[in-house]
Amino acid sequence: MESRRSFRLCSVLFLVMALMEISTATLSPAGINYEVVALVAIKTALHDPYNVLDNWDINSVDPCSWRMVTCSSDGYVSALGLPSQSLSGTLSSSIGNLTNLQSVLLQNNAISGPIPAAIGKLEKLHTLDLSNNTFSGEMPTSLGNLKNLNYLRLNNNSLTGPCPESLSKLNGLTLVDLSFNNLSGSLPKILARTFKVTGNPLICGPKASDNCSAVFPEPLSLPPNGQSDSGTNSHRVAIAFGASFVIFLLNSFPLGAL
Ligand SMILES: *[C@@H]1O[C@H](CO)[C@@H](O)[C@H](O)[C@H]1NC(C)=O
Ligand SMILES: *[C@@H]1O[C@H](CO)[C@@H](O)[C@H](O)[C@H]1NC(C)=O
Ligand SMILES: *[C@@H]1O[C@H](CO)[C@@H](O)[C@H](O)[C@H]1NC(C)=O
Ligand SMILES: *[C@@H]1O[C@H](CO)[C@@H](O)[C@H](O)[C@H]1NC(C)=O
Ligand SMILES: *[C@@H]1O[C@H](CO)[C@@H](O)[C@H](O)[C@H]1NC(C)=O
Repeated sequence: MESRRSFRLCSVLFLVMALMEISTATLSPAGINYEVVALVAIKTALHDPYNVLDNWDINSVDPCSWRMVTCSSDGYVSALGLPSQSLSGTLSSSIGNLTNLQSVLLQNNAISGPIPAAIGKLEKLHTLDLSNNTFSGEMPTSLGNLKNLNYLRLNNNSLTGPCPESLSKLNGLTLVDLSFNNLSGSLPKILARTFKVTGNPLICGPKASDNCSAVFPEPLSLPPNGQSDSGTNSHRVAIAFGASFVIFLLNSFPLGAL
């Protein structure tokens, strides 16, 4: 009798502990969902004139029902889709706490300020589109940590400084569009099927000297046949350039020797 009761007590205790285990996976000791905290911090840093983020509520336990938020089947926030919502303000670095994000679409808004380096913590991210905003500052080096990144659009912003060398570590890239910014310096070797950098007048060819705008005045935006916007085309231009230079040398050498 006594042992059966204690067995029952033990089972109940076990059940309670198991339940606690499950909830602590997403809840902080104070019972607050980390994803809710991070999303509300993102909302707070944005200006949302049409109140599209109205149901993003700090008192809600489950962000999966919020507008523009998608969750994975196991209940973690996996996508933020907020394109063309007239959002301004800045992008909070607490986006780095949404570690299950696979897709972030914030294109065609007016978000300014830096791209938070914390974005480099999003190991599962495969799609990042921040194009056609007013992001400024440098591209974070931490983008090179996004091993699963496939699609990166940062075009039509006001980014400055170099394209980080770390991006050359990523080998799953299909599209990288950095066009129409104010990037400068030489480009790392980016392994992407499509790589666009037109409209960055201070960019120069790989391995060129620091003051390369003097050496190669905007080589990557030369129109070969009216369509110079893809990496393959600029690559072709570079090869054509090199080839004609070699031909020029071959032609002029015998003349010089005579
Ligand atoms: C990010 O998560 C950490 C715990 O992992 C927490 O201490 C911090 O307050 C969170 N920050 C935001 C802005 O969500
Ligand atoms: C860029 O974003 C603005 C909104 O900020 C939008 O009106 C415009 O159509 C977008 N441009 C393109 C080419 O999508
Ligand atoms: C980017 O800027 C270029 C040049 O100003 C413009 O032609 C193009 O429509 C813009 N694209 C987007 C997506 O805003
Ligand atoms: C690039 O910089 C120049 C000079 O500072 C500025 O006039 C121009 O608006 C900038 N372009 C972009 C796309 O930020
Ligand atoms: C780049 O080179 C040009 C011409 O040689 C020079 O006038 C200019 O000051 C240089 N710019 C920098 C940033 O070194």
